[in-house]
Amino acid sequence: MPIPPSPATPVPPLPAGLLEAILSGVPEPVVLVGAEGRIAAANRAATELLGPRLQGQPALAVFRQPEAVAAIERARAAGEETQARLNLPTRSFDATYRMTVHPCDGAGAAAGLTVISLADIGHIEEAEQIRRDFVANMSHELRSPLTVLTGFIETLKGPARNDAEARARFLAIMEGEAQRMNRLIGDLLQLSRVEANQRVRPRDPVDLAEVVRTTLTALRPQLEGRGIAAAFTAPDGPLTVPGDRDQLIQVFHNLVENAIKYGSAGGSVRVTARIEPQMVGMAGPVVAIEVADRGEGIDPVHLPRLTERFYRVDSHRSRAMGGTGLGLAIVKHIVQRHRGRLAIRSARGEGSSFTVFLPQV
Ligand SMILES: Nc1ncnc2c1ncn2[C@@H]1O[C@H](COP(=O)(O)OP(=O)(O)OP(=O)(O)O)[C@@H](O)[C@H]1O
Ligand SMILES: [Mg+2]
Repeated sequence: MPIPPSPATPVPPLPAGLLEAILSGVPEPVVLVGAEGRIAAANRAATELLGPRLQGQPALAVFRQPEAVAAIERARAAGEETQARLNLPTRSFDATYRMTVHPCDGAGAAAGLTVISLADIGHIEEAEQIRRDFVANMSHELRSPLTVLTGFIETLKGPARNDAEARARFLAIMEGEAQRMNRLIGDLLQLSRVEANQRVRPRDPVDLAEVVRTTLTALRPQLEGRGIAAAFTAPDGPLTVPGDRDQLIQVFHNLVENAIKYGSAGGSVRVTARIEPQMVGMAGPVVAIEVADRGEGIDPVHLPRLTERFYRVDSHRSRAMGGTGLGLAIVKHIVQRHRGRLAIRSARGEGSSFTVFLPQV
């Protein structure tokens, strides 16, 4: 006897409240739209973002931006998934979402249901913007020394061909520009190396007193060149922190070099170390090292952006001194890698102070 085909298993109806329970497990805002275009269910993330009492409201009234309305209408008319960009100004910031309108399949299609979900793409767009700015800035930074070089090459080939005095002068400028380009590439590589290891905290025991003394010795020619006296004050005994000695030397090198460049000629640079037994947000004792100059100081409007790549208060002046505008960005990343902090205080006419806080445990 042939075996009769087994009847299709009927799908039992969902117990009341189960749909809401499932939706609440989805972290992204999700709403379910019924056949008549009204919201049938919404999860907590959706209510937090779009407001309470969503149920029963027309979807086109909740998502009323033109691009969103078009996406919903298109999806429902053609039965195809559509997407739209949605800008939702919240109380504290502008959020950008990618909205996906998905007409349901199977039993959901028979009931005319559509699922609308929102994905927060604000941070992706922000990262994209940072990347675009970085590439634009870097191209500009590389192009300016190249423009100088090509200009002088033209002059040396043409009008200054037989002018020995001009040739020597131009070659010196060209050498300086080529060196600056080399420094720029070096700084960029250094920055990307630190960033690549950002999550790996360095653990070698490093004596910061020795690091500061080594840095000041290396910078002696620059200090003497500007007639600047450097003083280092520290409590007795080693100031040991877990760290990467070369990178920490780089931190103090960049800070003291800035104090020399932007401090007043004939002035002084003071480096002071102390131990903070407790500090807000830090688990244990912290070594604080302050680098202070008596230069012209920095206008407070610049302080929040000072550690950004390529940010300079006076770019003409910084470039003229061979700067790349990456020094403080490198400092910030190295300090972050050491789970430390950087504090900047400055007032115009009163000098500047940069303090590095490094945890001892
Ligand atoms: N001690 C300081 N006093 C006044 N301004 C400062 C001081 N340190 C930094 N600045 C300002 O911050 C800007 C950024 O500093 P940063 O060290 O990142 O770049 P830079 O010194 O211009 O170039 P680089 O360090 O790559 O040679 C400087 O151009 C300068 O305008
Ligand atoms: Mg610098």
